[in-house]
Amino acid sequence: MAAPTEFKPVIVGFLCNWCCYGGADLAGVSRFQYPPHLRVIRLMCSGRVDLEFIFRAFAQKADGVFIGGCHLNECNYTTHGNFYALRMSHICRKLMELVGLNPARLNIEFISGGEGNRFAELVNNFSETIHGLGPIGTEEGLDAQSLHFQLEAATKLVPHIKLLERERFRVQFQTRQEYDQFFGSEEFDRLFRETIAEKLATAQIALLLEEKPLPTGDIAAALGLPPAAVSRHLNRSSRQGLVRYDPGQQCYTLA
Ligand code: FES
Repeated sequence: MAAPTEFKPVIVGFLCNWCCYGGADLAGVSRFQYPPHLRVIRLMCSGRVDLEFIFRAFAQKADGVFIGGCHLNECNYTTHGNFYALRMSHICRKLMELVGLNPARLNIEFISGGEGNRFAELVNNFSETIHGLGPIGTEEGLDAQSLHFQLEAATKLVPHIKLLERERFRVQFQTRQEYDQFFGSEEFDRLFRETIAEKLATAQIALLLEEKPLPTGDIAAALGLPPAAVSRHLNRSSRQGLVRYDPGQQCYTLA
């Protein structure tokens, strides 16, 4: 009998060129050990990392995503891209939770070019976490099809979240603790429920209807939602001209 193959996690690392990438380089030159399965994507600033990049990485079977930026308040750009990355990663983790993915699969750290040792340590710790979680979807009980569906639905929400970020989540804190506190607060929970969680169901329904027209009961069964909740979403989408009811087939279809 063939021996079970050892799980080798795939981790995508989005690293800022001006700091964390230098840290990775220094770790290599100094021969600090870190896992070979980190696939590095070098960016000019951690603020360039988009929610969509992360979901795309997971859709391409990354088991974990690591974002490395300059220390807070030391970003090389006046836009303070690393604060943007921190805010985006908080929102992303919450969204991952909502679609059934373990949020521990995403990590963000701030590392200077002189911290090769620290870079290796943080990547090793993250790699161990991902190793413990196993292949993406497995720990979460999502088969390949469900994982793909949930990631597609989450990606559909990205433009909506970008608008919200500008209007509702644009907090101007100076420290990581303040960000962690706000994004861990009940206030953020409420905002997230009202503005994003509601939209996710609408995006999931649209994805199902892209396949074929469906009655309310089938949509509810596919999404594990009460039929009354699905009716509410369908009524709203119908008022917005996104779906329509076909009385002949007694089904909803995309408008
Ligand atoms: Fe490094 Fe912005 S330049 S995080």
